[in-house]
Amino acid sequence: MLYGVVLAGGTGTRLWPLSRAGHPKFLHPLTGTEASLLQATVDRLDTLTSPDRVFVVTGVAHAAAVSRQLSAVPDENVLVEPSPRDSCAAIALAAAVIARRDPEAIMGSFASDHLIADKEAFTGVIRQAMEGARQGLLMTLGITPTRPETGYGYLQCGGAIGDGPQLTVEEFKEKPTYEVAEGYVKSGGYLWNAGMFVWRVDAFLAELHRQQPQLAAGISRIAAVWGTAEQEEVMGDVWPTLPKISVDYAVMEGAAAVGRVGTVPGDFGWNDVGDFHTLGEVLTADQAGNVVVGHQGSSEKHTVLLRDTESLVVVPSSGRLVAAMGVRDLVIVDTPDAVLVCPRERAQEVKQLVDHLKELG
Ligand code: GDD
Ligand code: MG
Repeated sequence: MLYGVVLAGGTGTRLWPLSRAGHPKFLHPLTGTEASLLQATVDRLDTLTSPDRVFVVTGVAHAAAVSRQLSAVPDENVLVEPSPRDSCAAIALAAAVIARRDPEAIMGSFASDHLIADKEAFTGVIRQAMEGARQGLLMTLGITPTRPETGYGYLQCGGAIGDGPQLTVEEFKEKPTYEVAEGYVKSGGYLWNAGMFVWRVDAFLAELHRQQPQLAAGISRIAAVWGTAEQEEVMGDVWPTLPKISVDYAVMEGAAAVGRVGTVPGDFGWNDVGDFHTLGEVLTADQAGNVVVGHQGSSEKHTVLLRDTESLVVVPSSGRLVAAMGVRDLVIVDTPDAVLVCPRERAQEVKQLVDHLKELG
């Protein structure tokens, strides 16, 4: 049975003002149902694992909210980071804690901010990835690219691993430049890395040790005292010294270079919900293409009144009525202390807007 690790970090700046440092995107119901992205991520694992094998790695500010939203997951499975050190430290901590329970455990690491439309297909792909993981490979899930996206990792696929759909990965390239990404997409031999990983904890920790000795040593020190009275003190001393680097750069690129990465190409309606435009693309729209986020089919729909509008993405999140008339292709986000209105095509630029806001102080 799988151990499920959910990374609940990052604030999702491009979803401002809905997503905030204090209330990041994974806690919001952006799924088209009442469930938050985090809850949907854990629910989706229900046939692969059990709640006592689900671990969540999150920041100290969100641990209470995470526990509240995931009532079936034991509190001790919520691993709390004193500060964000990026995904490698978060994943390594979970791997080391799980390895104490079962040194040969297979763990899957999942982002808490992705939408997945086809749960059955997803479950099948994870099972196939577990096959590759049993052979000691660090398994990725590969998505057929549709554009030269520079925010993703790319997998150059090699030959088949066995009789199944698993392929070797010859190169893992994280966040290439636009020109390079364009070449990859045109060549047809590359897949996007979906940002979810499946491996045996011992195989991952060995690669971590080989490529990131300082990080591995720090994590070993923390894991040695995990669950004891010394945990807090050692965590407080060691955690801030860990290299701040993502698992893609820290481990995956180097592991692929020595033939230790595999992938399962999958088509399960995957979407990395990075910005409001993308969110509008994946959720169900009305006949005029308008999407009201987080309130689909619920009784709260009356908080939005649309007349002669087209292709709006509306996020009513203050309890106030949001009314719009005679406009199209806009994002409208209403929260108690901030309102955002922008063209859908500029939804990516919200990040720069937030940077500007921070400069203003
Ligand atoms: N707990 C914790 N602490 N989680 C973190 C931290 C941290 O410090 N930093 C990042 N994460 C979590 C995020 O919440 C997210 O769930 C996951 O790790 C990936 O981090 P992102 O910052 O969202 O990475 P990315 O989107 O730029 O790139 C990754 O995902 C892409 C697909 O969405 C990479 O794996 C790419 O290769 C991949 O294509
Ligand atoms: Mg991401």
